[in-house]
Amino acid sequence: MSVQIYKGTIVTSETIDTLEVYEDAYLTVEDGVIRSIGDNIPDTYKDLPVTDYGRSLLIPAFSDLHIHAPQYHERGVGMDCLLFDWLNTYTFPEEARFADTDYARTAYAQVIRDLLRHGTLHANFFTTIHYDASDLFFRMLQKSGLYAFAGKLNMDMNSPDYLVEETEQAIADTERFVAEHPGDDHVKPILVPRFAPTCSEKLLKGLGRIAESYHVGVHTHLVESRAEAAWAAELFPQYGSDGAIYEGCGLLGHGPAIMAHVIFPTEVEERILEKYDVVSVHCPDATTNITAGIMPVRRMQKQGFRIAAGSDIGGGHHTGVYTQAARAVQLSKLKEFYEPENERLAFANAFYMATAEGGSVFGKAGRLAPGYRFDALVIDSMENEGKELTPLERLERFCYIGDDRNIRERFVDGRRIDPEEVYRKMLGC
Ligand code: GUN
Ligand code: FE
Repeated sequence: MSVQIYKGTIVTSETIDTLEVYEDAYLTVEDGVIRSIGDNIPDTYKDLPVTDYGRSLLIPAFSDLHIHAPQYHERGVGMDCLLFDWLNTYTFPEEARFADTDYARTAYAQVIRDLLRHGTLHANFFTTIHYDASDLFFRMLQKSGLYAFAGKLNMDMNSPDYLVEETEQAIADTERFVAEHPGDDHVKPILVPRFAPTCSEKLLKGLGRIAESYHVGVHTHLVESRAEAAWAAELFPQYGSDGAIYEGCGLLGHGPAIMAHVIFPTEVEERILEKYDVVSVHCPDATTNITAGIMPVRRMQKQGFRIAAGSDIGGGHHTGVYTQAARAVQLSKLKEFYEPENERLAFANAFYMATAEGGSVFGKAGRLAPGYRFDALVIDSMENEGKELTPLERLERFCYIGDDRNIRERFVDGRRIDPEEVYRKMLGC
């Protein structure tokens, strides 16, 4: 059995409202799983060496539940557009480049390296419509150490002629993708219809049949702007709303359902969120950049809905999802300012989204507690000389002003991960 012992200040979500702090505590790991956290080392391990991280923080790894991997190279560009202009002008031409698997390899290797650098060790991805590049990405993920969901993207209408699938072929390719990529403990396939306005009913129903036959989940966008919700309802009058379309086409209930944005949930969407235990993904930067409105996060949390955090690269411009915990608090304050009935988030509520809730999709992950995997980060103290901060202040400060240079170590399954080494491996895929 392999055992490691670490000493440091541990901060982890206890509940959605509370953070638990263990100052100068010992954390023991047995075969990648946390065995104990406390002031003492269990007797059996008394003689083993201890890695002491001093005033650094030990925190759970971050989980980013909505990333468009092929949009990595367009981050921070076209950010004054609204959704549809941004898609047509910047995103669709960039995604079309993934017909070239060499371009895809270079871009995907960088995304994976940079997510690891920024402490995202669990991730849920969009790809492009291209089979070969999506297959390559899946295989890269399997060698990366990340815990991930990924699939082949689908879109067969209202799309440019250089980036569109033929319906029957789309269904056949997606079934082949799922059949040929059963995945493993770390990386699993998921269905990825882009969003209702670019998918025909025939395609969505075909995906619904695949979901049922192969027990796979679905990752898409849901009521992400008023314009999107209205367009989906107009295109699918027989269903009438985004959520009802995915439900009616049989996509829900066969695996995890992960829905980005959910800014304007109606009663129909709320019923669906509850019935299918949907994880909604709050992506505050993207919401600000290219969509409209602010998710009613605190209200939805209090209603008991599951909400995780996402970067939504490249609609969002930041790689580290910890920045989105900070931005979620900021946006919630604006929402409360304009709509006082919408209570703002406390920092603990936001950190929970980026760790415990997101991590729950990847097994026993997202918290530091006995029985959970040691998927964790070691973060600098974030203190300036002469001014000490409490552990909670240090954590909040990291999410607001920290970056990848403040992450000293990354662990998955108790094993140290080196982003540069992974990058070299990815380029060889
Ligand atoms: N809706 C449909 N496609 C996209 C996309 O690529 N990014 C975002 N944020 N929203 C979308
Ligand atoms: Fe998105």
